[in-house]
Amino acid sequence: MQDMTDLLEQAKAVLDMNDRGNYTQPAHGLYPHQWLWDSCFTAIGLRHLDVERAQKELISLLRGQWHNGMLPNIIFRDEPQWRTDRNIWRSWLNPQAPDDVMTTGITQPPMLAEAIVKVGAKMEWPERHSWYRKMYPALLEYHQWLYNDRDPHHEGLVLQIHPWEVGLDSTPPWLAELHGHRLPLWIRVVEKTKFDRVINLFRRDTHSVPSDQRFPTIEALAVFDIQRRLRRKSYAIDKVLDHSMLTIEDLSFNSIFIRANSHLRDIAKSLQEELPADLVKRMAKTEETLEELWDPYSGQYYSRDFITHRLLKVPSIATLLPLYAGSISQEKADQLVKMLENEYAFGPAYPVPSVPVNSFWFQPKRYWQGPSWVNTNWLIIDGLKRYGFKDHAAALRESTMEMVAESGCYEYFDPLSGEGVGAENFSWTAALAIDLLKTKK
Ligand code: GLC
Repeated sequence: MQDMTDLLEQAKAVLDMNDRGNYTQPAHGLYPHQWLWDSCFTAIGLRHLDVERAQKELISLLRGQWHNGMLPNIIFRDEPQWRTDRNIWRSWLNPQAPDDVMTTGITQPPMLAEAIVKVGAKMEWPERHSWYRKMYPALLEYHQWLYNDRDPHHEGLVLQIHPWEVGLDSTPPWLAELHGHRLPLWIRVVEKTKFDRVINLFRRDTHSVPSDQRFPTIEALAVFDIQRRLRRKSYAIDKVLDHSMLTIEDLSFNSIFIRANSHLRDIAKSLQEELPADLVKRMAKTEETLEELWDPYSGQYYSRDFITHRLLKVPSIATLLPLYAGSISQEKADQLVKMLENEYAFGPAYPVPSVPVNSFWFQPKRYWQGPSWVNTNWLIIDGLKRYGFKDHAAALRESTMEMVAESGCYEYFDPLSGEGVGAENFSWTAALAIDLLKTKK
């Protein structure tokens, strides 16, 4: 086991390096803006170093909140050099967008409630009370927006319209759906003429990171095309659903949402606020409806298509995230943990791979198609503890810290060799390593 003092110092240095005053950029060069769930994970680590700075990290997310309550996945920097990033999205096309900052028109997994509670846990009650007071209205509006916009038929689960909303950008269930829909003509032409090799030269991500660790170019173009079509509809959900494109009730997003709802309930209770009755009902329904994602034949949960309710039977890291949701039965939790114990599924030398090792999609170094990520490990460790798997949780905590201590604060890690891949000096890896170091129980 490496020296953990070194790990702490290394992680602190990464957070310092990426500190932009009120928020932390995920990584220099590749990710220069503020990302929603990145800031939540970063605050969870920062709270051990400086609670006020951790609070700032979350408060600065509210700058980007849309008038309808949406929290966007990115708030763009306003310097001229980032004009292209802002223009690709043109959030100003939608009247709900904030006036003074530019953002995307989509969201990311609702980790804010967890981050508010974790940061609050570092305060005594009077301060925690004012902290909750400050954050509660925005958090409530965000959860209400998720139901209003993203569960239009009151079915219980919320839908996502772009793979970036799920945060697991290139995750196989979404890639499989992308291929299932006929790719737009212009992308097929690019594919046929092998022009993707030329396009690859202009990709910013593959300048910083080898291309075999990122999205393949054809899929990257398909994702870009979804964004273009959303922009054409100025991100208005009724127009988007009118001509439905890729609409998925994602398992990982909804698992995180269930947990976030239970944090929201706790926050409201400690403020002696009553949640709107309709919201309370909808929150309970989400937990019930998650069970419709269970496939008894393969003994696991899957995401599903929003329109047809077809299960997208491609396992991925999302498979294990109902443990974090905390609403599933012990029996089902036991079944999920078996997959984590299996070295050919989710249990290789450096777990937890973002795709099971025995999957057709598995590529140990490619983005969300195989590598282990510290944020999903953190969520799984939490879930294991909730279901009484204390030893599993302790083992995963140790192996995660060891992987980061040995290789550095990389964006993701080869689950077979532990090698660090993707961006270097990545903020949530650093922040969550600090949190794992500081939270033994
Ligand atoms: C990548 C990840 C996404 C993250 C972003 C910024 O796109 O897939 O989850 O938020 O980088 O770090």
